[in-house]
Amino acid sequence: VLREDYAGSAACARCHAAEYVGWFASPMHRMTRDSAELVGDTPFDGRTFRFKEDAVVLSARGGERFFEIRAEGRTRSYRVTRVIGGHHREDYVGVDVERGGDEIVMPVSWLLGPRKLRYKGYSVMARERPGVRPGPVWSETCIFCHNTYPYLLGLLGAMAGPGAPSYQGAMVDALLPEARRWRVLVTDEVAMRAAVGDELVRIGGARPSEGAFLEQAIAGTRASFGASDLVELGVGCESCHLGSRAHASDPRTKTSFVPRASFLRVVGPGVGSPAVETTRACARCHQVLFSRYPYTWEGGLRRGAPGGSHINSGEARDFLLGGCASQLTCTACHDPHARDGRAIAARSETREGDAICTACHARYAGDEALRAHAHHDPAGSGGRCVACHMPKKNMSLEATLTRYHRIGSPTDSERVLRDRPLECALCHAGERVQTLVGAMERWWGKKYDRAVLEALYGSLDATPVEATLARGKPHEQATALFLAGELRERRLARAVAAHLLHEYPLVRFYAEGALEKILGRSSPLDLHKEDDALAADARAWLAEAGVR
Ligand code: HEC
Ligand code: HEC
Ligand code: HEC
Ligand code: HEC
Ligand code: HEC
Ligand code: HEC
Ligand code: HEC
Ligand code: HEC
Repeated sequence: VLREDYAGSAACARCHAAEYVGWFASPMHRMTRDSAELVGDTPFDGRTFRFKEDAVVLSARGGERFFEIRAEGRTRSYRVTRVIGGHHREDYVGVDVERGGDEIVMPVSWLLGPRKLRYKGYSVMARERPGVRPGPVWSETCIFCHNTYPYLLGLLGAMAGPGAPSYQGAMVDALLPEARRWRVLVTDEVAMRAAVGDELVRIGGARPSEGAFLEQAIAGTRASFGASDLVELGVGCESCHLGSRAHASDPRTKTSFVPRASFLRVVGPGVGSPAVETTRACARCHQVLFSRYPYTWEGGLRRGAPGGSHINSGEARDFLLGGCASQLTCTACHDPHARDGRAIAARSETREGDAICTACHARYAGDEALRAHAHHDPAGSGGRCVACHMPKKNMSLEATLTRYHRIGSPTDSERVLRDRPLECALCHAGERVQTLVGAMERWWGKKYDRAVLEALYGSLDATPVEATLARGKPHEQATALFLAGELRERRLARAVAAHLLHEYPLVRFYAEGALEKILGRSSPLDLHKEDDALAADARAWLAEAGVR
């Protein structure tokens, strides 16, 4: 985990050409790029993005890109220094042209699918904002999960233990149940302090003094770590494999996913199990429980018994909460060295893909066994293992739904009685609560408390989707909006349109997408307008489409 343990991805190429070539083209490697690499079709063509009263102009001059931000009665220009993403979305980082200073995150994202600009803050469950504000500082908030750095700095919080100040990329464990946590024990305090102190000096900070040593180190990392302190830009080989210099010079020395140093030891469930160690490597970054949004799945709260995350980027933490985490790994369905991750993952959604699961759960292999277990056509979409056990209910990077990575069952009582809509409704959006719950009770011998279900849905005769639109938590409503769109029933148009002014703007984009499907025409709306103007435009759109 020390800086001198790292060799850089280029050092691996000569012996691992296959991994290197695949990884080189993968989205994770291309994650963060210098602005100079910005090529092709980009939004920097002089267009203006309007957000309420404020405006942002995107332009290019002499091979460089600029943001001109007009807000709070003044105009500031920023030169783009970095591009983040490039797969579903691009975010930008820039420096104030006149005043210089930190590289800060620009307030507008470019959505590559719909080719639209969106307010950056609205990519997570944040509340409505009054105007355009650039920020935060890139190196304080984004740099660790998107790039390769000496992992020692990522372990400061874990070494400090509970109550350490939180910072980007800190270990996931505080958000896991006690029994699933790993701990980083400092076995040689003096050597640890020397190593951390040296690294802080290396990044331009001060060597922490005696009291609250690690807390000071965390503050120092936040304040001093910058791009020039990275091992390399983007997710390099050693983001996952950790410092492999010793291995590169003598392959008999094995690499390790578990952090190693002379002065620390990692203990916890699954240390030594290749599956858990692999998942943990992914969890260094795929662990986000984003923003201050208070709720999680399973009726949990972000602060206090958090359940799984409702949005992308929390996959590995969700997975660690789920059923198979002691043996199944991410790499059963994803190839971390591959160019097209999505095509590989999609295989797990097919009949052949069930074999990934039946490799361990052999008693559900074969049509008869599967039919008896799942009560669905073994050849159809309702028969796929992931259909029920990794339900497609999370908010994705593209205002669609993606798979929830906490492996469990749609009948789990904390899902049935605490989350909306019922997971069976993901495919049976038009059914009533009573019908779906009744089938679960009949098929799998369950029993659910009707009073709790009535409190959730208002009535057992309601459809879970409509009731969730009316009464759900915001993340539940996003899921229900997507499903309402799939139903394409005009009678839902009004209930969907009500969410165009949702208090969490990200949900508005789900409402817009659903209305487009229901009305069968593309949206004329600009969701970045003031609410009054947006409401008027929405009324006009519905009227024009003949919705009463
Ligand atoms: C000089 C050639 C060479 C270089 C350079 C090299 N490797 Fe290896 N690597 C090997 C060989 C040979 C094996 C197989 C060793 C074995 O099976 O015992 C291997 C195995 C591995 C493995 C699987 C086994 C293990 O050690 O965990 C990983 C992971 C790995 N290398 C990663 C890397 C990374 C990351 C780099 C760059 C920092 C790198 N290698 C650089 C030769 C090299
Ligand atoms: C705790 C780790 C973590 C932090 C901190 C973090 N990200 Fe991410 N980010 C991720 C992960 C993981 C993904 C991939 C999610 C997926 O594919 O579903 C991601 C995806 C993205 C994407 C979409 C990538 C694409 O190609 O479409 C962008 C853009 C992005 N992040 C920007 C940022 C910015 C800007 C910041 C700082 C404000 C930031 N991230 C902070 C983990 C993090
Ligand atoms: C996103 C994380 C990640 C990145 C980045 C990554 N690897 Fe791996 N690598 C893994 C995992 C996980 C495994 C174990 C694969 C498994 O469980 O099947 C692995 C396995 C390997 C192996 C062992 C051969 C094998 O197929 O089992 C080699 C060699 C290797 N990686 C080299 C590299 C090199 C070289 C790079 C950079 C060019 C790299 N890896 C980048 C996660 C990563
Ligand atoms: C250093 C942080 C980091 C680590 C470690 C990491 N990832 Fe990622 N991963 C990211 C970021 C950032 C993205 C967003 C890249 C994008 O989609 O442009 C991402 C994207 C992905 C995607 C989505 C790609 C797509 O096609 O949409 C998958 C799948 C993924 N990672 C799997 C893994 C697996 C499996 C591991 C562990 C073996 C892992 N990641 C380890 C940061 C990381
Ligand atoms: C049983 C197969 C399976 C396993 C195991 C699995 N995934 Fe996935 N994952 C999928 C499928 C399928 C998708 C595609 C969902 C889609 O495109 O709608 C996906 C999507 C993703 C995405 C993209 C999410 C997005 O924004 O759309 C990321 C990132 C990801 N997985 C990371 C991981 C990580 C990290 C692990 C291990 C902790 C893991 N996955 C384990 C099947 C799996
Ligand atoms: C490498 C082995 C392995 C694979 C492959 C595997 N699992 Fe599991 N699974 C386990 C283990 C171990 C448990 C825990 C069993 C226990 O506690 O008795 C488990 C538990 C479960 C549970 C019960 C979870 C709960 O909370 O009640 C479900 C459901 C499940 N697995 C579904 C799947 C599905 C679906 C797949 C394919 C995507 C899959 N498993 C692949 C090993 C595996
Ligand atoms: C239509 C939904 C559905 C499909 C498809 C489905 N399951 Fe299940 N599965 C369930 C439900 C519901 C439960 C919980 C039953 C219970 O608690 O008695 C469950 C429980 C499980 C369990 C935990 C109980 C146990 O037997 O250890 C495993 C493992 C499992 N399923 C594996 C699979 C595999 C593997 C596949 C694909 C071959 C699959 N399931 C397909 C609905 C489904
Ligand atoms: C991935 C989509 C999907 C999921 C998830 C799903 N189903 Fe289905 N369901 C289907 C499909 C497709 C059919 C029709 C073909 C078949 O029997 O598989 C069906 C058929 C049914 C039927 C029979 C309807 C009839 O008219 O005969 C019932 C009842 C049912 N599902 C209940 C459930 C329950 C309860 C759950 C949750 C445990 C569930 N489904 C989850 C897709 C799904």
